[in-house]
Amino acid sequence: MKFKKEILCIGAGYVGGPTMAMIAYKCPQYRVNVVDILPEKIAQWNSDALPIYEPGLDEIVQKARGRNLFFTADIEAGIKSADIIFVSVNTPTKTYGVGAGMAADLQYWEKTARQILDCADSSKIIVEKSTLPVKTAQAMERILNSGKYEVQFEVLSNPEFLAEGTAIADLENPDRVLIGSQQTESGLKARDELVAIYANWVAADRIVTSNIWSSELSKLVANAFLAQRISSINSISSLCEKTEADVSEVAKAVGMDTRIGSRFLNASVGFGGSCFKKDIMNLVYLCRHYGLEQEADYWEGVIRINEHQKERFVLNMLTAMFNTLAGKKICLFGFAFKADTGDTRETPALTVAGRLVEENAQVVISDPKALDNARLDTQSIKGDIQFKEDPYEAARGCHAIAIMTEWALYRSLDYEQIFNSMQKPAFIFDGRNITDHDKLFEIGFNVFPIGKPKKVHF
Ligand code: NAD
Ligand code: UGA
Repeated sequence: MKFKKEILCIGAGYVGGPTMAMIAYKCPQYRVNVVDILPEKIAQWNSDALPIYEPGLDEIVQKARGRNLFFTADIEAGIKSADIIFVSVNTPTKTYGVGAGMAADLQYWEKTARQILDCADSSKIIVEKSTLPVKTAQAMERILNSGKYEVQFEVLSNPEFLAEGTAIADLENPDRVLIGSQQTESGLKARDELVAIYANWVAADRIVTSNIWSSELSKLVANAFLAQRISSINSISSLCEKTEADVSEVAKAVGMDTRIGSRFLNASVGFGGSCFKKDIMNLVYLCRHYGLEQEADYWEGVIRINEHQKERFVLNMLTAMFNTLAGKKICLFGFAFKADTGDTRETPALTVAGRLVEENAQVVISDPKALDNARLDTQSIKGDIQFKEDPYEAARGCHAIAIMTEWALYRSLDYEQIFNSMQKPAFIFDGRNITDHDKLFEIGFNVFPIGKPKKVHF
């Protein structure tokens, strides 16, 4: 079959894989190739066991793969034959040199720019899908326009707003698709080509166009605002615990104001995930770079509250369990950074596990999808850590359960059976406020929610 255009995506990760699967599924007239430097990852994308768990992903990959969706390790050939190249490589926080711990590490991104430059012998549209600091497109253009061929590159910014666990629903029905371009004739023409792809399934009023710098910045700001809401409600959760107010009631009352809105106000043990912290630190770094110290401090506060919330959770456990955790067996229900994903990047559960081990506790980790990652992540923690997928087995003989991830599974367990198999007094620390605290208390647990009065038998 002759395709209308050929799309390439460099980077077959959490964003590149699902995003391209959706484009291919919705746009059979385009051929979509996805490449990665890791051949084993490409092999997984071509198998029945995809490299990431995402509800609904298997179905759309199965429908499009081999029809107009192809996963391959041949990056050079992919670049040569593409009309449009999405760059969806990782952009983690720098761990070395200037800006370490704050700035984005652009080495993977720059490598792709140079690869495109080396291989491309025809004009192309380059789409920044990765989250990048403002003005990165300028650097991309400068690299690309220093090449040996007489070819033209037009760089667009098209940040991705999907959340893990709901990636397919988010991609199928996005709040908005944002496309930033240079406001030149060729920039606008390239923008329209990208708009035409999304228009296959996204309503016109949800496809927003802007100048390229606004687009790059909007992605960082969206994540900063989302994380800020969580830190805001988490800061209030501490106050609730001191005053016998209930954070869920406060969130409900406050969120019913349509100017505020009800979503993303769930108090928790803290936010995790690969992006919130990194993108806020990136924003903070940008502010400092431009001499905006007050603004930088303001956004850094969101991260400080998040770190504090995790530490507060552990200290609450320590205080509640008679100021010693040494030799006690504590079970973590959930290790993923949120429900419906196996991803554990920046998960609060890792911080909590590490802190519990520092207190000489024995830790048992349970999770329906994230145990492989949990094993890798905890390798550096020297202590007694076990892994058990079955929550009943994991909790057996434990002194306490700490709920780390809001998996639906943990709402409906037989907690009476679990209680009977545990050491007494038995404690439950609900880091996600997902269980029925009254019922758990009636069963016999000492219950410690987030931002709500504790329920104890002594
Ligand atoms: P990821 O680590 O899952 O995937 C990135 C992939 O790029 C990896 O498979 C890596 O091997 C590959 N790669 C790196 N350098 C390469 C190169 N030179 N050539 C070919 N492949 C290369 O990362 P991710 O979670 O998909 O994130 C990608 C970008 O999207 C980041 O900038 C992130 O901030 C942004 N983002 C992520 C999410 C999310 O939910 N994970 C959501 C929105 C935006
Ligand atoms: C987030 C954003 O929601 C996406 O729009 C964005 O594209 C993505 O980051 C990104 O750039 O990577 P994600 O991290 O996958 O998506 O998941 P979220 O649903 O945002 O949850 C992030 C963390 O906040 C999780 O640990 C979650 O449990 C926590 N959270 C979320 C709370 O503690 N309370 C809430 O009310 C909501």
